[in-house]
Amino acid sequence: MPKGKNGKVFEVSLRLDSPEKGNAEILLNALVNAGVSPEEIVECEQWPYIDFSVYFRSLKKAQVLKKKMRALRLRGIPTRLKILHKNDWQTKWQEDFKPFCLTRRFSVIPVRFKGKRRFPGRISLFLDTELAFGSGLHATTRFMAGFAERCAGRYRSFLDIGTGTGILAMIAFKCGAQDVAAIDLCRDAVGVAKKNFIRNKCSSIDIRVADANKYRTSKKYDFVAANLITQDLLGLGKKIVQLVRPGKFLAVSGISYNSYDRFRQDFAKYPLRCLKIEKSEGWAALLYKKIGSR
Ligand SMILES: C[S@@+](CC[C@H](N)C(=O)[O-])C[C@H]1O[C@@H](n2cnc3c(N)ncnc32)[C@H](O)[C@@H]1O
Repeated sequence: MPKGKNGKVFEVSLRLDSPEKGNAEILLNALVNAGVSPEEIVECEQWPYIDFSVYFRSLKKAQVLKKKMRALRLRGIPTRLKILHKNDWQTKWQEDFKPFCLTRRFSVIPVRFKGKRRFPGRISLFLDTELAFGSGLHATTRFMAGFAERCAGRYRSFLDIGTGTGILAMIAFKCGAQDVAAIDLCRDAVGVAKKNFIRNKCSSIDIRVADANKYRTSKKYDFVAANLITQDLLGLGKKIVQLVRPGKFLAVSGISYNSYDRFRQDFAKYPLRCLKIEKSEGWAALLYKKIGSR
């Protein structure tokens, strides 16, 4: 979350009180059309509501978004602007983040619950998410976690492009991958992921600050995971596909419904066979197998 002057953060939030898939999708598209990157939208379910929030350092920018959203006159969806003082925003997210079951095999336990809460039969992932994306609450992460779990035992090496908290790299490691690498262009995220690896006994994961666009390696991986925004996936497509060992897996996520067709058409040029598609809450993810011999 960005810190503004005097530690202030400006939150623009829209509240949906009928959490049907269609409504959430319309709202997400409206935010994206107003210039918000899908990555910046924080979704928080507080039954019976879903809040979609965007955070700014600048009051002016927050006011512009509020004005744009209000101009759309979305019926029954109020737009609010709130000033979060330092203590508010530091605690707000942490308070909302509670232990939960992520997949059949994994649960997420925020670090403050370590030793206090566990889900029998599931592997606990102890997570600090303060400065990085990847709590597992977002559909895009959940889809990827499911793919990594589903393919467990069929990959030995794993590359997590845009690792955020490191959640997918840790799942791969705990699913038996012995050679796990993770990159992120955000230094803060890499710092958080490193600590998460230590607290989850995954210290052998090779992690570094790197921009996927400039990442050079001749190595090929059995599983490449990339939960990025569609535009980045399209730009990085050739490179990402080259990193996958033939016969092995590529999982991509972060594709909003309105860019899904464009994504499918673009990725049709690569030697990939689609094995599984996940779609929910305005987001899509795909699991591919690389075909051919190169
Ligand atoms: C949507 S988050 C995904 C985090 C986590 N892997 C997950 O699935 O929840 C995307 C992450 O990719 C990083 N990222 C974006 N573009 C990147 C690039 N070109 N190279 C490396 N990392 C990138 C961002 O900093 C962010 O941490």
